[in-house]
Amino acid sequence: MTILVTGGAGFIGSNFVLDWLAAVGERVINLDALTYAGNLHNLEAIAGDTRHVFVHGDIGDRALLDRLLAEYRPRAVLNFAAESHVDRSIHGPGDFMRTNVLGTFTLLEAVRGFWSGLDDAAKAAFRFQHVSTDEVYGSLAPGAPAFTEAHAYEPNSPYAASKAASDHLVRAWHHTYGLPVLTTHGSNNYGPFHFPEKLIPLVIVNALAGKPLPVYGDGQQVRDWLYVRDHASALRAVLAGGRIGETYNIGGWNEMTNLEIVHTICALLDELRPDPAGAYRRLIAHVADRPGHDRRCAIDARKIERQLGWRPAETFESGIRKTVQWLLDHPDWVANVQRGSYRDWVAMNYNAR
Ligand code: NAD
Ligand code: DAU
Repeated sequence: MTILVTGGAGFIGSNFVLDWLAAVGERVINLDALTYAGNLHNLEAIAGDTRHVFVHGDIGDRALLDRLLAEYRPRAVLNFAAESHVDRSIHGPGDFMRTNVLGTFTLLEAVRGFWSGLDDAAKAAFRFQHVSTDEVYGSLAPGAPAFTEAHAYEPNSPYAASKAASDHLVRAWHHTYGLPVLTTHGSNNYGPFHFPEKLIPLVIVNALAGKPLPVYGDGQQVRDWLYVRDHASALRAVLAGGRIGETYNIGGWNEMTNLEIVHTICALLDELRPDPAGAYRRLIAHVADRPGHDRRCAIDARKIERQLGWRPAETFESGIRKTVQWLLDHPDWVANVQRGSYRDWVAMNYNAR
């Protein structure tokens, strides 16, 4: 048995591949374009493992997709590949449309071609699982109930709009062509291999370097944080038992303001790597807000618990401690991802704020 994963050298994809090989053990074909966010160092633990086949390529390359599907005949395709950073989508939305919208379209078409040639039993067993986000639902007022799967789509950033578009394509390929699809809406992930353009790893690596900790606006925006290995186990549960054509919210039951997150990280670093210059909180710097900033995102993850018995294993306290410790233990990984275009990005996003 084989599955095809796209974007499996990125943050969530690589954690999923590692989790999959440890928990299930079926062969994984991992197709990744190795953009700035793709990193083969994330997969070092499985170097030489013949159950993992890495293919450098783009989900927008139809000929490559046709070849891979024909050669490896996966029983499922999981689509993680995407441009994923909201701030980058504000500076340059084009890549988000190319990969998240057109790339998903090309992948769906290739998968449809492969799937329609299967025999009836293989067709029925096949799954296309699309890894989407809670940001397609937009922003919640304080005190409003968390997003359920029935919430209207109200994307506010180019990133969220591109993911919403891809979700609609996946839905349409099911309703029109019968492709057996599953879609998941994950909340904010954190954990090992998180690229330090996102809030949690950025704050940790900046603090360790004695640099300012940039908090957008008043820092009272709320996110629901999900440890990435919990996300991986939820995706496995959906693949194994999710109902075809349905959508599943995946959240950590951890709503926190950005300032609470930054204070928690500072306190952990004060304990684990005290700075002789003083408490890390002194580095917090409020900077200009993100345009179109979602004020509050929160996931109601009761459906996946009710139907599939999944709940996150980590609390925020346990997950953030593991995350800080992981970054402290992997200075080479940090130094490696901060080479190249990373500095240009930091200068573009933060210098003018
Ligand atoms: P990431 O940016 O860390 O990784 C994306 C990966 O996709 C990279 O390895 C990159 O090289 C690859 N990729 C990009 N364009 C590609 C293309 N055209 N063809 C093939 N590969 C390509 O992203 P992530 O944080 O790991 O997110 C993975 C998925 O999960 C995305 O679809 C994202 O929308 C979704 N998601 C992310 C979060 C989160 O908190 N990070 C939460 C919910 C859902
Ligand atoms: O909700 C799921 C989404 O979570 C995913 O779909 C996205 O791929 C992922 O990037 C993430 O989006 P966010 O925009 O919520 O994550 P980010 O880490 O960029 O920001 C988290 C919060 O922190 C947000 O309110 C913006 C704020 N922030 C972010 C950065 C990078 C800051 O205050 N300062 C910063 O420097």
